[in-house]
Amino acid sequence: MDEEKKLSRKTVLKVALAAGVAAPVALIGGPALARTTVASGRTPELTPACDDGDDPTPAQTEGPYFKPNSPQRTSLVTPNTQGTRLTVSGYVFGLGCLPIARALLDFWQADVNGAYDNVGYTFRGHQFTNDQGAFTLSTIVPGLYPGRTRHIHVKVQAPGRPVLTTQLYFPNEPRNNTDTIFDPRLLMTVRDVPPGRQAAFDFVLNVPQTSTTRPTSTTPTTSNPPTTSTSNPPGGTTWAAGTGYSAGARVTYSGRGYVCLQGHTAQPGWEPPSTPALWRAE
Ligand SMILES: [Fe+2]
Repeated sequence: MDEEKKLSRKTVLKVALAAGVAAPVALIGGPALARTTVASGRTPELTPACDDGDDPTPAQTEGPYFKPNSPQRTSLVTPNTQGTRLTVSGYVFGLGCLPIARALLDFWQADVNGAYDNVGYTFRGHQFTNDQGAFTLSTIVPGLYPGRTRHIHVKVQAPGRPVLTTQLYFPNEPRNNTDTIFDPRLLMTVRDVPPGRQAAFDFVLNVPQTSTTRPTSTTPTTSNPPTTSTSNPPGGTTWAAGTGYSAGARVTYSGRGYVCLQGHTAQPGWEPPSTPALWRAE
């Protein structure tokens, strides 16, 4: 397996940001740092890679419970808050895979019982990304309410740009298979860190960024098959929308092999390269 190819530009940028390195491109082929290890290990990559041509984070319905004027805060919990503690962290990127500083993130979610506070501002809060484009939210795992799978609502806005309204989801939730709003492209990477859980998600906003400031030498130039492929190599059938896949199923897409991580019915837009929570590249 070509591990270096799996180092997306965004991953490199994140590693560079974490390390305080000014020239992210210099890290290609360098030592494996924490987030690189995650991306190249056996666990799904944190989020879709922000390579050339990748789509921005999909929008979702706002739902009936948004309230404007939430408090500015990065923590929605107090020592007495009920529920499993959850930290959500990540970055906000533009189309050029560059981080966006001072981007607004406004989160709202249900409490442990699946109820929204429509009178006050419990489990509502907004914050801004830091100079590195990073954010961290301290909250709880939201409770379930009828008709929906587990989710967190968020509005994300780069300075002076339109608002992206969307929702974030949790892997391995039974209701993910029946919630018609659910989109696996919005699955967070979640891991248990007792006594709580840690989640990661990176947003890609539909914000143009100048190519002069963006590294260009990280784009893989070899072994990239055409985007449409009629070949059907041994070991898996060609991925097709409308097909039900079970965990462990193998497919090929654009000439590359993928293993299904969660059972689901494929839909247009859920292609394996776009849904690392559903498919792991072989
Ligand atoms: Fe909701």
